[in-house]
Amino acid sequence: MHDYQAPDGLLRDKIILITGAGAGIGAQAARTYASYGATCILLGRTVSKLEAVYDEIVSAGDTEPAIIPLDIKGATAKNYEDMARTLEEQFGRLDGVLHNASILGHLSTFEDIPEQEWQDVIQTNLNGTALMTQKLLPVLRLSDAASVVFTTSSVGRQGRAFWGTYAVSKFATEGMMQVLACEYENRNVRFNCINPGGTRTSMRASAFPAEDPQTLKTPADIMPLYLYLMGKDSQTVNGKSLDCQPK
Ligand SMILES: NC(=O)c1ccc[n+]([C@@H]2O[C@H](COP(=O)([O-])OP(=O)(O)OC[C@H]3O[C@@H](n4cnc5c(N)ncnc54)[C@H](OP(=O)(O)O)[C@@H]3O)[C@@H](O)[C@H]2O)c1
Repeated sequence: MHDYQAPDGLLRDKIILITGAGAGIGAQAARTYASYGATCILLGRTVSKLEAVYDEIVSAGDTEPAIIPLDIKGATAKNYEDMARTLEEQFGRLDGVLHNASILGHLSTFEDIPEQEWQDVIQTNLNGTALMTQKLLPVLRLSDAASVVFTTSSVGRQGRAFWGTYAVSKFATEGMMQVLACEYENRNVRFNCINPGGTRTSMRASAFPAEDPQTLKTPADIMPLYLYLMGKDSQTVNGKSLDCQPK
């Protein structure tokens, strides 16, 4: 489904939250979902970046998005409860979540991972994502058919030297997705993982500084699977981990 061709209006009337919507893949997903009719809720930690994406969506003539400034690293259960309540009041339901925000940390031997960096990566990539998901479940259940997409990585399926904390956070993300997919089997919320594969963003550049970015797919190139997993054509897909760039 990496070459899926989405029909016009695929996401019309859908309310979709995108985390890390200010840059890289998340910003592209927000613009793309909006162009297929969704009302996007742009969540991120840098307001100026979210505002730039907001402006692009409005300038394109798509449905006006909403902005939620939030640093996942420092957010509490109460923050997510308040967010869920606001979403229910404003929109009545939530039809989709793209959990995209993550940090890489530094690549190093396992022995050299600083304690604070371990905490920060796990807090952002795993704990925050888990807590947000937990608190959003009631508002997701108000949708006729909701899709929750977690972002994984190749190193979340097969461990790789020096990718310690990030890899562990992505393995756990895959596990969290599977637990939720089992709990919600045959219900109105489904859970899947997406693996972008090497994509031209600042995270990729910091992991592979010597790589020529022109050799990589752009975020726009990998959007077919992002659309597929959010739309009705994947309605029966639950508990899967899919690749944007299969080998
Ligand atoms: N690019 C690749 O090759 C690749 C490959 C496999 C998997 N992935 C995964 O794909 C996803 C997107 O990656 P990307 O390459 O687009 O990364 P990116 O360019 O670094 O963008 C990450 C986004 O997450 C946001 N973010 C980070 N920490 C946050 C926090 N504490 N609270 C709120 N937002 C936060 C960033 O906000 P700021 O802009 O404010 O920093 C940014 O908008 C990630 O889950 C990554 O692990 C990427």
